[in-house]
Amino acid sequence: MSILVTGGAGYIGSHTVVELLEKGEELVIVDNFVNSKPEVLDKLRKITNKDFKFYEVDLLDEENLEKVFQENDIESVIHFAGLKAVGESVQKPIEYYHNNITGTLVLLKLMKKYNCKRIVFSSSATVYGDPEIVPITEKCKVGNTTNPYGTSKLFIERILQDVCFSDKEFSVALLRYFNPIGAHKSGLLGEDPNDIPNNLMPYILGVAKGKYEILNVFGNDYPTKDGTGVRDYIHVVDLAKGHLKALDKIRKEAGTQIYNLGTGNGYSVLELVETFKRVNNIDVKYRITDRRPGDIAVCYADPSKAKQELGWVAEYGVEEMCKDSWNFAVNN
Ligand code: NAD
Ligand code: WQD
Repeated sequence: MSILVTGGAGYIGSHTVVELLEKGEELVIVDNFVNSKPEVLDKLRKITNKDFKFYEVDLLDEENLEKVFQENDIESVIHFAGLKAVGESVQKPIEYYHNNITGTLVLLKLMKKYNCKRIVFSSSATVYGDPEIVPITEKCKVGNTTNPYGTSKLFIERILQDVCFSDKEFSVALLRYFNPIGAHKSGLLGEDPNDIPNNLMPYILGVAKGKYEILNVFGNDYPTKDGTGVRDYIHVVDLAKGHLKALDKIRKEAGTQIYNLGTGNGYSVLELVETFKRVNNIDVKYRITDRRPGDIAVCYADPSKAKQELGWVAEYGVEEMCKDSWNFAVNN
């Protein structure tokens, strides 16, 4: 019996694969490398000294994805594969909806055909839109997403809930990630975007390495402690561990479970930049620019449901996140 990890060569997927292999799980990974590199697979073997099966397959390619189900006894799926660049999704909505939603539908069709009834899904705090209150609990209203990427997550959540409703043996965990940063301690795995990064930490790393001249801080007139946006940054290894806990839960219980995976702490852009500079002893030049359209002021989680029901809490603080991000950047 194996776990199928879609998007397992990607940033969060690869860190989760390490945790799963270290726990002794049998894995089958599927990725089309649209946003990752084949070298990651060797790094996973090197870190864990364990092996897994890999298929270079696009989720949209039903015929080849079916082979994965034919050749393996898949008991659960952890579904990371998807496109995730917010700005690009506004430019290319059809590609985003097709890849993320159709990809999930193809996967679900095959899961049904091969009687696989458990799935952990990578959702996002973005489904809450501009939150009415913080910290955000799972009971907060979802919707009012501001871009096709976020809307694809919202729709997939709904599709998975409908599947659960139709089949009482089906179990789903919707994991709403806050802002994952950091990297594996080995320095071998981390976030390595192909294009100019949209997200804050990869951009800080680019400036610290001299690849970009200066960080644009998008607005300092938000109603926050220093006027810059506040987010719940979470170490990717903590996030990865949350998937194992969610998997334990859905192995025991049918139905839909929803969890926020965050630390519960909010840091401003300037706090993150200053922490990064201090712990890594390196300068990061920045300037204040206009707000980025679609951004919200404050977003952080109430992670107490995951603590109570899964026994999961994020252990690493923001200093560790900044150190590990930099360790990966200098090693790559
Ligand atoms: P990533 O781009 O590093 O990983 C996604 C992986 O999926 C990549 O390896 C990519 O090649 C693969 N992939 C994409 N489309 C595919 C397809 N059609 N068939 C096969 N493989 C495909 O991204 P990540 O940061 O690791 O994110 C993983 C998941 O978590 C995504 O679904 C993302 O939307 C979600 N998420 C990410 C964040 C974040 O800030 N990183 C936050 C919330 C949710
Ligand atoms: C964080 C803060 C920016 C870059 C996005 C997605 C969300 C989720 C995580 C997937 C904000 C500021 C950023 C820069 C800046 N992904 N910033 N200069 O926007 O909270 O969330 O990634 O699901 O869906 O929307 O993350 O890292 O882009 O921004 O000042 O060059 O940093 O304004 O306050 P965000 P981010």
